[in-house]
Amino acid sequence: MIFSPIIIGTMRWGSWGANHSKKILQQLIESALSENLTTFDHADIYGDYTTEKLFGVSFSEMQIRREKVQFISKCGIEMPCKNRNFTAKSYNYSREHIINSVEQSLANLRTDYLDLLLLHRPSPLMNPHEIADTFDFLREQKKVRHFGVSNFSPSQFELLNSCFPLITNQVEISLNHTEAFWNGTLDQMMMKNLQPMAWSVMGNYFSEDTEQNRRIKTVMQEMCRKYGAEENQLMLAFLLRHPANILPVIGTSRAEIIKTLKGATDITIENSDWFRLLEASAGKPVP
Ligand SMILES: NC(=O)c1ccc[n+]([C@@H]2O[C@H](COP(=O)([O-])OP(=O)(O)OC[C@H]3O[C@@H](n4cnc5c(N)ncnc54)[C@H](OP(=O)(O)O)[C@@H]3O)[C@@H](O)[C@H]2O)c1
Repeated sequence: MIFSPIIIGTMRWGSWGANHSKKILQQLIESALSENLTTFDHADIYGDYTTEKLFGVSFSEMQIRREKVQFISKCGIEMPCKNRNFTAKSYNYSREHIINSVEQSLANLRTDYLDLLLLHRPSPLMNPHEIADTFDFLREQKKVRHFGVSNFSPSQFELLNSCFPLITNQVEISLNHTEAFWNGTLDQMMMKNLQPMAWSVMGNYFSEDTEQNRRIKTVMQEMCRKYGAEENQLMLAFLLRHPANILPVIGTSRAEIIKTLKGATDITIENSDWFRLLEASAGKPVP
């Protein structure tokens, strides 16, 4: 197994969220490692291109052996912001852009290699042959060990995978967003014996008071009592119950929630309870 069963997302740790200090980041890293959660998910753009560096500085002072952890990063989005003067938000998968982005991530994370590089979002202009050549180069240089994509449709995955072996597709999946169950994304991963990764695993459950969330909450409260679990643990257990062996990327910026969420790996939601949650999400029973 390359990655820990729950992946630690860093998107909200810096200026796109909690704006944590180096000290708090170190506590979060420590908390994850104490639960044997060793994989950290990054992207070049997080915190307007600043969060990887914040993490790298924090991690490098902790005397943790690099081979004890896994770093994922993503590239391909050009985001106009105060740290970059791109003229428009664009996707760029040219050889030059991918290599430059990896070099930046390595420098920011203060490491010699990424365990996994993901193409952040599919682009109509991506050339799979150019990308495959670039991936070959990065692998030969020992700068990236494995390659994958994020937010790709099954056919987009197939297109690039026909030129270069990919190991995952990181997509949005939660009780609020169940499209991946039906659109072939998870089927494809299972057929290829690959593990999908899920982002925004809490959906908007804790951030928005929607009709859907009110329906889910009614069922959740009953199930929390039945399973002796917290709502966030059941949100995660719902994904972990899927046979695709989903690797959830959790986004919390609180150490105690990392510990709570690890507990979800011990919960198996019964079949009919899983469908009650799905029904609450959809607002109607399955046909
Ligand atoms: N590939 C992609 O395109 C993509 C897109 C988005 C994200 N990602 C990756 O996925 C990771 C997770 O995404 P996400 O941040 O949207 O994940 P998430 O786990 O769905 O969201 C966590 C958010 O919910 C809040 N929350 C409130 N109450 C909570 C509770 N009781 N338990 C848990 N969370 C609670 C958290 O706040 P607190 O911090 O206060 O707990 C945090 O703001 C990101 O860090 C990033 O690495 C990838």
